[in-house]
Amino acid sequence: MKKNKTILGLSVFFFLLSLAAVVTSDLAADRRALIALRDGVHGRPLLWNLTAPPCTWGGVECNAGRVTALRLPGVGLSGPLPIAIGNLTQLQTVSFRFNSLTGPIPPDFANLTLLRYIYLQGNAFSGEIPSFLFTLPNVIRINLAQNKFSGSIPDNVNSANRLATLYLEDNQLTGPIPEIKIPLQQFNVSSNQLNGSIPDPLSGMPKTAFEGNSLCGKPLAACSVTGNGTETTGKVKSDKLSAGAIAGIVIACVVGLVLLFLILFCLCRRTKKKENNAASRNIDAAPVPTSSAKETSAVANVPPPVVANSGAPPSSENGAPASKDLTFFVKSYGQFDLDGLLKASAEVLGKGTLGSSYKASFDHGLVVAVKRLRDVVVPEKEFREKMQVLGSVSHVNLVTLIAYYFSRDEKLVVFEYMSRGSLSALLHGNRGSGRSPLNWETRAGIALGAARAISYLHSRDATTSHGNIKSSNILLSESYEAKVSDYCLAPMISPASTPNRIDGYRAPEVTDARTIFQKADVYSFGVLILELLTGKSPTHQQLSEEGVDLPRWVSSILEQQSPSDVFDPELTRYQDDGNENMIRLLKIGISCTAQYPDSRPTMPEVTRLIEEVSRSAGSPGPLSD
Ligand SMILES: *[C@@H]1O[C@H](CO)[C@@H](O)[C@H](O)[C@H]1NC(C)=O
Ligand SMILES: *[C@@H]1O[C@H](CO)[C@@H](O)[C@H](O)[C@H]1NC(C)=O
Ligand SMILES: *[C@@H]1O[C@H](CO)[C@@H](O)[C@H](O)[C@H]1NC(C)=O
Ligand SMILES: *[C@@H]1O[C@H](CO)[C@@H](O)[C@H](O)[C@H]1NC(C)=O
Ligand SMILES: *[C@@H]1O[C@H](CO)[C@@H](O)[C@H](O)[C@H]1NC(C)=O
Ligand SMILES: *[C@@H]1O[C@H](CO)[C@@H](O)[C@H](O)[C@H]1NC(C)=O
Repeated sequence: MKKNKTILGLSVFFFLLSLAAVVTSDLAADRRALIALRDGVHGRPLLWNLTAPPCTWGGVECNAGRVTALRLPGVGLSGPLPIAIGNLTQLQTVSFRFNSLTGPIPPDFANLTLLRYIYLQGNAFSGEIPSFLFTLPNVIRINLAQNKFSGSIPDNVNSANRLATLYLEDNQLTGPIPEIKIPLQQFNVSSNQLNGSIPDPLSGMPKTAFEGNSLCGKPLAACSVTGNGTETTGKVKSDKLSAGAIAGIVIACVVGLVLLFLILFCLCRRTKKKENNAASRNIDAAPVPTSSAKETSAVANVPPPVVANSGAPPSSENGAPASKDLTFFVKSYGQFDLDGLLKASAEVLGKGTLGSSYKASFDHGLVVAVKRLRDVVVPEKEFREKMQVLGSVSHVNLVTLIAYYFSRDEKLVVFEYMSRGSLSALLHGNRGSGRSPLNWETRAGIALGAARAISYLHSRDATTSHGNIKSSNILLSESYEAKVSDYCLAPMISPASTPNRIDGYRAPEVTDARTIFQKADVYSFGVLILELLTGKSPTHQQLSEEGVDLPRWVSSILEQQSPSDVFDPELTRYQDDGNENMIRLLKIGISCTAQYPDSRPTMPEVTRLIEEVSRSAGSPGPLSD
């Protein structure tokens, strides 16, 4: 008996041992596949600790010792996916949503027979939708929305008999929708170039699932019986759209040329002005917004806007409705009207994502900054409501909003003017040519002021965010105090005006500049801190050779070298190592740029941390001169 038991025990032991060996060897294959993925994909590196087991790596989930889910949403991956994932044979869930991945879906996905959930939305995948997706026997959910897939929807959709969700909206798919017989619960093909009639089994889906195509039939308008009037509604709509787009492009080109000309003109004028200080200020060329507004309206062939009549007095002295002139928020600035503003001497300050900025100087000495918003997409009522809300915002570290103007062709926002210009100009402007270097105390003070302003915006309500944090929007007062500008304007601007401008401040999960959440603000603010400390300009790596992906660059330096190597030489000139507080602020910046929004601190937390840093800075350090 005893002997038998021992034998039984031993064989169980060996059985378990061999099972463990199988499991580990398969996990080893999974590990190799994950490393092949990590090494093959571009963009921000996947920071996996290779000495730890793969099941502990970020985004990797295991069950019974095998990788069953790989979730890497919004982590800044780019380029094509390498052949690797097909070896994760136990994979059930794969998510790469909201990265910048390109190219086709790799063919080795065909081997993932246990795959159930495929989330690839919000990338730039292209090519045809592979038909093997629908022969995966267990697939339940396929989301390929917001990519660049072209060609037609595969005919074999019906092979996926467990499929419940098929999201294909916002691609470039053409041809008809195949006859889909499987009972889908969720379906969306809106904003493609599909044509033909909608198959009957899908007629119960909401209209919005089909809009933006040339489709007809229930739930959209019926197809014409004769077949020659088929794509009625859809086609008309899309034709109109493309005509509008063409007109838009033409106008944009002309406005661009005019602006370029004006900038050159103003630059020339500025140099002239320097030479001859006594020259009159109010010469004919002054009202910059006016002349380009005239050009715009002439091209668009619409009646000239109110603004274009700047030569004449505003419609009437007292009876004019408020909307025909500037709407003021700050009474003490009300010593000018629209007419006066347009007659003031103007100087181009810069051209940003939201529009161009001008410095307007009045004869009586008042100077204001004017922003000409372009591509405002919200209707007048909503614009006025939003501006009214912004007008009630008041914080010592926010640039004061003085007034705004809205007409069909012109949207102006008037801010207080900041004589020291932007942080961007100070950090990246001409160094060594008389510019006084920004010392540590100044930089820490700027970080704190900006943090307080953004914290204040976030505290107003959970949906309020700045939406456009970057060093060119951090202006400086006479005493180098941070004044944050351009707050909360981004949601009113058309996404087309920032065409895929994945700039270095944008959080990886953000795909539409109009919807920026507070945690994305935190990311941008983190990049701003890194910029403040390193003196390097953040730019998306793919767009520019000069700039760096700051969070990535900083972490790669910290891995290999000492922290002092990341700091702006101007900051460390008087010290061999960056002082302890600089490292603390650097760490705050790094924590703000965490890949996942949930891992980032909130703005009030960030503000508190920076307050601690600047408090313990106490007496001016050795860096101030
Ligand atoms: C995938 O598995 C095959 C066969 O086991 C192997 O030859 C190949 O190297 C593996 N590829 C990766 C990327 O792990
Ligand atoms: C990587 O994992 C190993 C083993 O779990 C651990 O000892 C080490 O500290 C980790 N390294 C980092 C940088 O987290
Ligand atoms: C699928 O797996 C088989 C066997 O492991 C391999 O021979 C084949 O090349 C794989 N297919 C693809 C498309 O990777
Ligand atoms: C759909 O469009 C293609 C190409 O534009 C055309 O050849 C085809 O006839 C259209 N089909 C229907 C049903 O209108
Ligand atoms: C389909 O997608 C579009 C674009 O994202 C969206 O506006 C619409 O509400 C969606 N409709 C359905 C039924 O999912
Ligand atoms: C539709 O086609 C028929 C012949 O195919 C033609 O007689 C009729 O005029 C067409 N109708 C329209 C609206 O084009």
